[in-house]
Amino acid sequence: MLPDVVALLRCPHCGADLAPDGSALRCPARHTFDIARQGYANLLAGDAKAGTADTADMVAARDAFLGAGHYRPIAAALAEATADAARRAPGAVVDVGAGTGHYLAHALDAAPDRVGLALDISKYALRRAARAHPRAGAVVCDAWRPLPVRDAAAAALLNVFAPRNPAELRRVLHPEGRLLVVTPTARHLGELVGALGLLRVDDDKKARLDEALDPHFTPVRADVIGFPMNLTDTDVATVVGMGPSAWHTDPAELARRIAELPRPHVVSAEVTLSVYAPRRA
Ligand SMILES: C[S@@+](CC[C@H](N)C(=O)[O-])C[C@H]1O[C@@H](n2cnc3c(N)ncnc32)[C@H](O)[C@@H]1O
Ligand SMILES: [Zn+2]
Repeated sequence: MLPDVVALLRCPHCGADLAPDGSALRCPARHTFDIARQGYANLLAGDAKAGTADTADMVAARDAFLGAGHYRPIAAALAEATADAARRAPGAVVDVGAGTGHYLAHALDAAPDRVGLALDISKYALRRAARAHPRAGAVVCDAWRPLPVRDAAAAALLNVFAPRNPAELRRVLHPEGRLLVVTPTARHLGELVGALGLLRVDDDKKARLDEALDPHFTPVRADVIGFPMNLTDTDVATVVGMGPSAWHTDPAELARRIAELPRPHVVSAEVTLSVYAPRRA
């Protein structure tokens, strides 16, 4: 793991700085955390709510889908917003719930003098995230708990279809930095929602996001990013598996319903990229 990435981290037990020690990270109180062979460090303190961690299959499917470029406009918008944040504040690019590191890699390309950190609870995701970009490191942690990241370490915080803990996000974000949140709109995957019985996104998701973040963040800008995608049957199954519906749909039943859909699968993607500034204490 790059020294500049280790310098972003703090001990999840006592909050002290961490330093490399062989194939581990260690704090002065000798709390020790392994760096896996695949390059990610495990800074999970205690038991995780592993129920929400992505499985190996889910991660492989998402990697293929994102690698095919279906969500390229989202990655491009995040990259631009990251470059803007990097002009405003010193610090790293940190992706909370980073998955495979796809968006982080694009963001780092747009911030050439910064290092990146992928945080996720799924080690399968982080195996890929650890290799996603030469300037990125990857760390297992639980986004619902205190993050193993130093105060004000991030110039840009990414949070894409992933869990967020507003108080912690503010703590790790530099006062001049920006939080970039991507959420689906009610029209996201609209063609599939009814036909496949997916969970619906309600219309005031954005308002609820602003409200949840309000004690810690003030909205700066929100852009709706909408575009059509041409998907194969496999892509359709993947994009369903990437969303919350994955936990509610039986794979055999899903495959049966996909087989009955009209071809080609032209599916609308529509998300909001919301940019927030931290509130002054
Ligand atoms: C829908 S995926 C999005 C991943 C990535 N941002 C993307 O869009 O490709 C949600 C991610 O959040 C991670 N996750 C779920 N619960 C988590 C938690 N409590 N702490 C950290 N990450 C979590 C999952 O492992 C998964 O990688
Ligand atoms: Zn410690």
